Amino acid sequence: LALGLDLGTSGVRAVAVDERGALVAEATRTYPLLTPRPGWTEQRPEDWVDASLSALAELAAQLTGAPVALGLSGQMHGLVALDGAGEPVRPALLWNDQRTGEAVRELEAAVPKETLVARTGNPAITGFQLPKLLWLRAAEPEAFARTRHVLLPKDFLGFVLSGERAAEPSDASGTGCFHLETKTWDEEVLGALGLSADLFPPIVPSHAVVGRLRGALAERTGLPKGLPVVAGAGDNAAAATGLGLSSRTPRLGSVSLGTSGVVFAPLKAPTPDPGGRVHLFCHADGGYHLLGVTLAAAGSLEWYRKTFCPERSFGELVAEAASSPPGASGVTFKPYLAGERTPHLNPDLRGSWTGLSLATRHADVVRALLEGVAFSLRDAYDIIRPLSPLERALVTGGGAKSELWVQMVADVLELPLAKPEQNQGAAYGAALLAWQGVGRVEHAADLARTAVAAEVTPASAAPYEAALRRYRSGH
Ligand code: XUL
Repeated sequence: LALGLDLGTSGVRAVAVDERGALVAEATRTYPLLTPRPGWTEQRPEDWVDASLSALAELAAQLTGAPVALGLSGQMHGLVALDGAGEPVRPALLWNDQRTGEAVRELEAAVPKETLVARTGNPAITGFQLPKLLWLRAAEPEAFARTRHVLLPKDFLGFVLSGERAAEPSDASGTGCFHLETKTWDEEVLGALGLSADLFPPIVPSHAVVGRLRGALAERTGLPKGLPVVAGAGDNAAAATGLGLSSRTPRLGSVSLGTSGVVFAPLKAPTPDPGGRVHLFCHADGGYHLLGVTLAAAGSLEWYRKTFCPERSFGELVAEAASSPPGASGVTFKPYLAGERTPHLNPDLRGSWTGLSLATRHADVVRALLEGVAFSLRDAYDIIRPLSPLERALVTGGGAKSELWVQMVADVLELPLAKPEQNQGAAYGAALLAWQGVGRVEHAADLARTAVAAEVTPASAAPYEAALRRYRSGH
């Protein structure tokens, strides 16, 4: 059995996967999200470790076969700063932390945007790790002075488990200081900021064994001492690996209707959008991928339900929306409840409904919400399509349970969608990378089991054209 562990934002999930790619056991644990000030999000690395060890112990107790390796995945972009003894100097800053506005301006002043996009694939983005490090240097100089190493969240866990510091390309490319072509830390970018590449760990391939499970932790979890720990991948690349998405077959992508919405398109070569409006990261298979992110997708519907009709289920709300025609009788919703990434890269944008009248029904309001999320995904896909046109995409996330919403997304993106029977998530992809790490397969994605439950063929986008124009007029 290969094990996979995903260090998420709300909790950790550990799974065991057999050598045919079937998920056979899982265990989860949660941990708190700290918000010490508005816009700040932090977690205690110690909480990640306790939760991970506890989930691994529960998983180990369920196993009927011997584990051969453990692969890691996790929330991207976070900053874990360690002192010379390998102890965190402060809580970790997370991917969705927004305190780095000033640091982004510092970065933009030191390195021109075009240079940053050409070398690292992305402009300076508030959530990325590098601006967090600049914030630490400016705001907490004593903590920065004690910092000897910086790690991404899952790489910190790998360090605790194995004693080895390492990073791999899919997550490293989300820091803001990783050169996409050479796959090394970008000394020119770091040098312009007065930072040394020595702060960052060695880079290994995503399927590489970084070290072996330390004896004391083997005892605590019941896993074998010396179990190979495989680097793994950032959560998006790991989830894509688990869906079988490979940069060798870049025409198959994915669209997620989770709390946030994502368009994932594999790529063979690192071709960024010159404006840097969609993310370009390394995939876990030696290639690359584009990633468009809308921050509140199913999250918009969940917020609406909780705020305005907590007594009703998602199913009821979506069924009601079906009685409103395409275009939602003139109502337009912008889903920028948490600011927006693609294409606006603006944490301060806010959501809205417009076009309300005395004739507006509740069904129109909900339908407009679903359409607004679809339009936001279309904004992302319009940037992705010229760089990596997809033939088909797998659709995942809680929102994919709604036939109406999935059909709407297929129509608006003009893209055939396929619903996998189950989405086994990033931990599953990490386990497949672990299988590759011990030589069971040449390409982790080839082990993915993605039985398709339904194919959704796009109908005409014409009924949405006027609504899309309204959506795009002004912000
Ligand atoms: C990707 C991103 C998120 C985090 C959350 O750019 O910020 O998907 O990885 O887990």
